[in-house]
Amino acid sequence: MIDGHTHLFGIIGDPVEHSLSPAMHNAAFAHLGLNGIYVPMRPTDLADGFRGLRSLGFIGVSVTVPFKVAIMDFLDAIDPVARKIGAVNTLVFARAGATVRCTGHNTDWLGANRALAEAIDPAGRTVLVLGAGGAARAVGFGLIEAGARVLLANRTEAKGRELADQMGCRFIPAAELAQVRADALINTTSVGMAPHADTIPIDPELLPRFRVVMDIVYAPLATRLLREAAARGCRTIDGLTMLQYQGAAQFTLWTGREAPHAVMRQALLDALQGRHS
Ligand code: ATR
Repeated sequence: MIDGHTHLFGIIGDPVEHSLSPAMHNAAFAHLGLNGIYVPMRPTDLADGFRGLRSLGFIGVSVTVPFKVAIMDFLDAIDPVARKIGAVNTLVFARAGATVRCTGHNTDWLGANRALAEAIDPAGRTVLVLGAGGAARAVGFGLIEAGARVLLANRTEAKGRELADQMGCRFIPAAELAQVRADALINTTSVGMAPHADTIPIDPELLPRFRVVMDIVYAPLATRLLREAAARGCRTIDGLTMLQYQGAAQFTLWTGREAPHAVMRQALLDALQGRHS
């Protein structure tokens, strides 16, 4: 029920209508009996939109493409890891009387670490990250934060080397991929995403070198990478797992409550299903 006490949450992005986050967070509110609502919003102007969120009483807001970097200019404080990553995906508004302070966080790296931790503790492990975009930054810096040794590979070598240098990790050129040994492989590129579901970001023959293979692509859920990896005996982690854990971290930042993980995952699965039917 929406009434005068309903707490406001949401997501800003452009486009935003395909976001699975409203389903995930509203299911969590309903499950715990919290009087909150989470809505998708597409601001025509980011500065105006942010002022609106601040003054209208929003408590927590997710930030997605294309606003994750630009939003940082408006914030009162930024979490140190989010600053290193250079992107904010979560806003937390703290209200004291007429004063409102907004802090920016990044839960993508927490989501990636918690997803990987379903199979192995990243601390002290070697992880090969494929890609050098925004997702690779969050995953890579997050792994370093968790004490992992990161190796980075990317189609465009210059971009890969630049990110590897920023993270203080080793760049692996395509010709040397066949010599890499690592505990886990994480794909942060869009390779394998529908409608190109037959594509794979690494030669499948190399997959037995990794005990764990994780994908951030979740449409389809069983990407070709994960299917080929499972067929070769690797432990696999799908892209919805990272999405679920980054959402769970947001939920806890906003409500102070432990997130109902199973409920949130089921809501994501249902929303994904609905999108394809
Ligand atoms: P995001 O911010 O979501 O990570 P991005 O910044 O567009 O997205 O980054 C996409 C990543 O996927 C890049 O590392 C890109 O490689 P390039 O740097 O060579 O462009 C990678 N990528 C996208 N399509 C690819 C493809 N078909 N083959 C290999 N890598 C691809």
